[in-house]
Amino acid sequence: MIAVSCVAAFGAASQETPVYLDYTAPIEERVEDALSRMTLEEKVRVLHAQSKFSSAGVPRLGIPELWCADGPHGIRGEVFWDNWDNAGWTNDSCTAFPALTCLAATWRPELAYEYGRAIGEEARYRGKDVLLAPGVNMLRTPLNGRNFEYLGEDPLLTSVMAVPYIKGVQSNNVAACLKHYALNNNELNRNESDVHVSDRALYEIYLPAFRAGVEKGGAWAVMPSYNLFENRHACENPRLIKEILKESWGFDGVTVSDWGGAHDTDKVLDGGLDLEMGTGTDGLTADMNAYDTYHMANPYLERLRDGRESEAVLDDHVRRVLRTIFRTSMAPSYWKGRFTCPEHYAVARRIGGEGIVLLKNNGLLPVSDKVRNILMVGENAVKMLTIGGGSSSLKAQHEISPLQGLRDALRGRAEVDWERGYIGAGPVVYNNVRSRDFALLSETRDSAMLVADAVRMAGNADLVIFVGGLNKEDHQDCEDRDRLSLGLPYGQEALIGALAEANRNLVVVNISGNPVAMPWADKAGAIVQDWYLGSEAGNSLADVLTGAVNPSGRLPFTVPYRMEDTPVWGERRYPGIKRPDSRIYDIYYDEDILIGYRWYDTKSIPVQFPFGYGLGYTTFGIGRPSLTRDGDSYRLEVAVSNTGDRSGAETVQVYVTSPEVKGLLREKRKLAGFAKVDLDAGETRTVTIDIPVSVLAYYDETTSSWRITPGKYTFAVGSSSADLPHRVAARYEGN
Ligand code: BGC
Repeated sequence: MIAVSCVAAFGAASQETPVYLDYTAPIEERVEDALSRMTLEEKVRVLHAQSKFSSAGVPRLGIPELWCADGPHGIRGEVFWDNWDNAGWTNDSCTAFPALTCLAATWRPELAYEYGRAIGEEARYRGKDVLLAPGVNMLRTPLNGRNFEYLGEDPLLTSVMAVPYIKGVQSNNVAACLKHYALNNNELNRNESDVHVSDRALYEIYLPAFRAGVEKGGAWAVMPSYNLFENRHACENPRLIKEILKESWGFDGVTVSDWGGAHDTDKVLDGGLDLEMGTGTDGLTADMNAYDTYHMANPYLERLRDGRESEAVLDDHVRRVLRTIFRTSMAPSYWKGRFTCPEHYAVARRIGGEGIVLLKNNGLLPVSDKVRNILMVGENAVKMLTIGGGSSSLKAQHEISPLQGLRDALRGRAEVDWERGYIGAGPVVYNNVRSRDFALLSETRDSAMLVADAVRMAGNADLVIFVGGLNKEDHQDCEDRDRLSLGLPYGQEALIGALAEANRNLVVVNISGNPVAMPWADKAGAIVQDWYLGSEAGNSLADVLTGAVNPSGRLPFTVPYRMEDTPVWGERRYPGIKRPDSRIYDIYYDEDILIGYRWYDTKSIPVQFPFGYGLGYTTFGIGRPSLTRDGDSYRLEVAVSNTGDRSGAETVQVYVTSPEVKGLLREKRKLAGFAKVDLDAGETRTVTIDIPVSVLAYYDETTSSWRITPGKYTFAVGSSSADLPHRVAARYEGN
């Protein structure tokens, strides 16, 4: 079709297909050919939005529009051309995959590839060229409302999990768009936070996952974020976009502004952004096409026409957009993707089951055959959690609740009743998408009555399973609305205490995308860290509760006792100090490289549950490791045994401690490598973990380069950041 229309467009005289339409030609030739045929106006037109989620193509040349979609847990339902409301299509209800925190908790990169491939297939099916995912910002504060869209507090774990996700997405000719670049680590004042961070922390903690996504994942798109860095918004920031991303890392894809993240024409043009999205949303309702007023629309065109802006720079932006189009919708592929198919639900269910973390178990789990009568308590046992939380909110084709999942799994074996216990929220309507929990969440009782009813019922049950946590409502794991405290909301802490008194067979399932304080931990017989698991949520949880899946998730973050213990305690660090006569907050990363477990370990602050921690229904033994150097890597080998009576998976973790250098801040230890291994009961296997020597390096601010201190490095090996029984050392003397 396209080839025919092109012949028409180029006249009968030229029978040859232009290179840009030749699907077999190298991309760069196609880009140059297309570019050479475009007018100045056509070039500018591809650099900004033409609707909420699309930018224009070049219709005269048969070059299609570019369509973006959120991300990161499923393909967002269609919205209207000019506003965020759901457009009411009936064919856009997607598979909701588990939140990225859950993916990180699997510690299994192969699953990240499966995740990426499946969500990429859904994007392809829906005609989306750019998936606005994955989110790879670091968990700096547990109050950040968007941590559920990210992969935890460690740059290595985040990088290792993000890379295969990107590759999986892009195997469908859908661009992954890494976000939010960079330092967007809180939602409160997200457009006004100016981050002050040392170069060392920038390079060691906050940039590695973006760099890995670009250099190892080959991401085709990156989204500069809302916040400021060095007093310039990230979308207008030449250091972040031009110097680091494009020049230093060699990124050849497209930078897509976060929606509304561009503010000033001169600064945007100086900053190096390629594609401007979401600047004002009036669209066609204004007197003129409001998209023409974008910084990278008419204002840019005027500057180009009168010579204030260079055409060479313009061409670089256009090349990047064209490259994205040729990599996606104009790629040599007939693959149309798949949507809501059994295979995608299977991927979602498996990742959900592998990511759930068993934190405590005095024998209540897996649910024993003797249990006949179970009481589930808590709103999250029935509430739809695919809805809410901001731009990642989904219109899911189905969502299995924990109550439904457990009932289905135990049908004929045990009765499962439900009591609400607390009122967190009513049913949600989000951007016109209505949750399907209306009947269950309509309430006439007050809080005291709810507690009393739950406690009375609990007294008669063989087992009580409380399913609570956060819920993606405002301030409860939600974009643009950071959490207000570390504790559980809606009176859940008191309710857990009351339930424990009524029945000591109490399992607490916490659903959240963030660590929550657990002052009630001693009262629970078992604690399960669950996540927003999407369509198959209840099935994945039931798999773990019943033992159909042996839990093997490990925490991708630390669970601290109190906010006061965290590295961000104090106004300077979070939410920052408001600048006089300005809307800007200066936010100081005084903790430097010490985020997450690096902070707690180095400062010897006790925590509720450490990074990397998790239990299962079997036990493991980790033997003495051996270490050899092989070129640019260390090779660590260690025997791991399943010492229990059922098959399961252990994640062997290696942390490195660097030699002291006077005057240089050192973390006590940092993750250097890991491997997850499946073992049958009684089986022993040798696990090999390759650790690049570069892991030993720190970023030397005096020379602006990576440097390895000569001396003794200790590798500690075990099953979490706090359980490291074995040590093996290596001397680094230089190359
Ligand atoms: C979010 C992005 C999202 C975009 C489009 C913004 O508000 O920060 O993550 O991709 O909206 O929905």
